[in-house]
Amino acid sequence: MKKISELTKEDILEMSYNELIGLVRETNRTPGGLNTIKDVARKLCLNNNSKILDIGTSTGHTSLEFGRLLNCEVVGIDINEESIKTATERCSRFNLEKVSFKLDDATNMTFNDNTFDVVFAGNVTSLVSNRENALKEYWRVLKPNGHLVAVPMYYLETPSEDLLQKVRDAIQVNIQAQYKDSWKEFFLRENDEVFEEIDYKFIKCSDEEIDKFCDDILSRDHLKELPEDAMEALQVQYRNFMHLFNENNSHMGFTIFIIRQKESGEFNDPELFHSELV
Ligand SMILES: C[S@@+](CC[C@H](N)C(=O)[O-])C[C@H]1O[C@@H](n2cnc3c(N)ncnc32)[C@H](O)[C@@H]1O
Repeated sequence: MKKISELTKEDILEMSYNELIGLVRETNRTPGGLNTIKDVARKLCLNNNSKILDIGTSTGHTSLEFGRLLNCEVVGIDINEESIKTATERCSRFNLEKVSFKLDDATNMTFNDNTFDVVFAGNVTSLVSNRENALKEYWRVLKPNGHLVAVPMYYLETPSEDLLQKVRDAIQVNIQAQYKDSWKEFFLRENDEVFEEIDYKFIKCSDEEIDKFCDDILSRDHLKELPEDAMEALQVQYRNFMHLFNENNSHMGFTIFIIRQKESGEFNDPELFHSELV
């Protein structure tokens, strides 16, 4: 891994969006950010005895916020070494002894079976090359009465091929357009049931908001070490990515799926008499 002062214009132009996030130390949040974390904590009545695994933690936002809210054990994993370093550095500022970060792959995790009460997979499973393996791993490390929280993003309408290709190029993953139903079908195996399902759609930012955000991020002290031509490339590339994701998100929504295993055997009959709030 090169030092910041050694990066060239070509290095910057070859980086995926995720690598750029690591470089600029952007706080990558789960869809819905802190509100999603609060929704999950409330719905599952999480407390300081809960044990949470945060998959694809990036620079640690979800893990740190669960730790701050609940003072419980949280482990954040990611395959990006730079992001794990930043997450660990941020953690030391919060004095959160029960939060830790680890380089680990969602498709082949180093944790023992039945370890966590909650496995939280934000907008990550779509980026994993072998999703089936990742899903098996999520359930393997969950305790028998644990909950899988998946927060996939999806298109609310069919995107143009041009937009989709630009997103693929930016994240350097060959994604296909996904919709809510296909995610639900993927996450919900035969013996699982939805405990909660909460739908949101994104609000589009103005171009001025995007530019202001980029100005702030790109003026960070550590980036002053970048050679001039690399900085110029970063200014263009990062801004283009953020405008692209703003456009892309305006066609997208996300769902907080909270999933658990069904009761097995003869008592597993569906609820018949439903009710409504009056
Ligand atoms: C879009 S960010 C997700 C950020 C945020 N935690 C969320 O909930 O939306 C995706 C993250 O997943 C990581 N990632 C991709 N494949 C992974 C894998 N197989 N195992 C662990 N992390 C992975 C990436 O490095 C990146 O930091």
